[in-house]
Amino acid sequence: MSKVILTGDRPTGRLHVGHYVGSLKRRVELQNSGEYDKIFIMIADAQALTDNADNPEKVRQNIIEVALDYLSAGLDPEKTTILIQSQIPELTEMTQYFMNLVTVSRLQRNPTVKSEINMRKFETSIPVGFFTYPISQASDILAFKATTVPAGEDQEPMIEQTREIVRKFNSVYGETLIEPEILLPESEAARRLPGTDGKAKMSKSLGNCIYLADSEEDVRAKIMSMYTDPDHIKVSDPGKIEGNTVFTYLDAFSKTEQFERYLPEYANLDELKEHYQKGGLGDVKVKKFLNNVLQEELEPIRARRHEYEKDIAGVYDILKKGSEEARQVAANTLHDIKEAMKINYFDDAELIAKHAKKYGN
Ligand code: TRP
Repeated sequence: MSKVILTGDRPTGRLHVGHYVGSLKRRVELQNSGEYDKIFIMIADAQALTDNADNPEKVRQNIIEVALDYLSAGLDPEKTTILIQSQIPELTEMTQYFMNLVTVSRLQRNPTVKSEINMRKFETSIPVGFFTYPISQASDILAFKATTVPAGEDQEPMIEQTREIVRKFNSVYGETLIEPEILLPESEAARRLPGTDGKAKMSKSLGNCIYLADSEEDVRAKIMSMYTDPDHIKVSDPGKIEGNTVFTYLDAFSKTEQFERYLPEYANLDELKEHYQKGGLGDVKVKKFLNNVLQEELEPIRARRHEYEKDIAGVYDILKKGSEEARQVAANTLHDIKEAMKINYFDDAELIAKHAKKYGN
């Protein structure tokens, strides 16, 4: 069986280092591993519109930002198909048929939908399109016969919903669709990178994000004002590692060899943590190290971004070509789906002949 990746993001803002370490970096590694036959990365604009119906301009402006973030992170359009969801009408058609296989109560039990409804205070005034987006997301995955969906933990309920649709579809209409597996981030730190203020998650509205497109100076300033241990006041005070954002970021980003380069008095992160916990290590020193580590990661990304920024029409062209290629694949799957459901009347010579016979032709 061929191995196919599909994953994506809603274009509601630029991507930050949480997206990078939780997913983007892995996608690039998977792309370069050569282990996958096809890789599709979707800019999920139609999904973004399910809760931004009154603000399509936000979605429209952010498609290019997300595309630039993808390309600058190292997604290579020669190896990876980057597509815009709304440009694949076959996805909508598929969703229509999958909707018949999912109950309202099942959607109400989806933890992601549940928590997003609470967060956005939609309560009973949820747009139907938002309520049903797990089904639309199932189409995103199934249209490409994806075997693997690299994504964060928050997407697990979506993948489970997708798998249920596959089982239901295959049992009703015959083996047609493939059950995908989620591929979660490897390290705990990468799974849930907190905001610079130590809050649970990076979010634009909290102003606690470090963006991939941030300048060197912005990154430095954000690191220098990061949340650490509020009880670590004097350098000599013992400090806490748990909930200390600077150390969480070091867990996610630092490599042992970087100690030799930037902090040779420590052999590795464990030694640095130990000293911090004992007392005698100041926040500024740790933050400066984190700055070196993060700048090393972000510098090549920034450089690639500047190159792509010089040819925006070219980037739109990459998206157009990717969407066209993706559309072909989705059309083939839709064809299989309609054939399985036997709603491909005009291709069904047997059906036509049978009815002709019934009427004595
Ligand atoms: N729901 C994902 C997010 O909010 C975006 C997305 C849309 C997606 N379609 C997808 C992710 C298909 C994985 C597979 O980030």
